[in-house]
Amino acid sequence: VILDRHNRLNTADLKARLKMIDLPEGNFNADEITEFIDQMQVYEGAMYEISTKLEILDDEFQVRFSHDPIHHMERRLKSLNSIIGKLERKGLPISVNSIKDNLFDVAGIRVICNYRDDVYSVSNYLSSQSDIQVLRVKDYIKNPKQNGYRSLHVIYAVPVFLSSGAHYTPVEVQFRTIAMDYWASLEHALRYKTDLPDAKLSEHSQTLLDCSRSLQNIEVQMQNIHRDINGAPQVGEA
Ligand code: GTP
Ligand code: MG
Repeated sequence: VILDRHNRLNTADLKARLKMIDLPEGNFNADEITEFIDQMQVYEGAMYEISTKLEILDDEFQVRFSHDPIHHMERRLKSLNSIIGKLERKGLPISVNSIKDNLFDVAGIRVICNYRDDVYSVSNYLSSQSDIQVLRVKDYIKNPKQNGYRSLHVIYAVPVFLSSGAHYTPVEVQFRTIAMDYWASLEHALRYKTDLPDAKLSEHSQTLLDCSRSLQNIEVQMQNIHRDINGAPQVGEA
């Protein structure tokens, strides 16, 4: 199952909104608007290519092992507002070249797996495909963030073929288990809940850290049962 967190790229709407953006250096001109829209189309193509590869892997596992490693996927293109907001926050120029050079998460896919073994097998099979490159890996499962966040982040470069040839385009893929996703959704909600008193916020943050560790233990136990059912070796307790 793939959930599209936004509709397909709407170029007319994007064009209208690009025209209205006020920049210190003056508004985008017609060529810049066209260039921006073309680039977004390339990001969309890259996102579809990687999601198709993931669906094919999931189908193969289903046929060969009667097991679906991927519970579901979510994909999205970064919105115009988020793109500009991020460039501004980082003090970078607002231009298509600046996006291409600095933003690696314009195309994003979240792959929610059933078990931790699935996270690593799916990501390893994808990473070893010869037509794509791995640009960066951040393994917050082996090394969780201080707040308890866990996920495996991989940035791939995938060739998108247009009439002008191959355009190697980055796609950020976040691989995580259902439990990691469950945790990250609540932590994300807390992060944007700014009207809570500081004492409450820090109490909740501590509880979330405890929850992250508990979920990690539950995952190991359930993974072991699943491995036993399927005749695979056990993992040690976390
Ligand atoms: P930015 O994209 O600028 O954040 O820097 P980065 O690319 O170095 O970040 P990183 O790879 O660590 O994380 C990118 C994405 O992972 C974020 O946009 C979130 O979707 C997710 N993420 C990272 N850390 C957290 C976290 O602590 N909590 C939650 N809920 N999500 C996180
Ligand atoms: Mg990022």
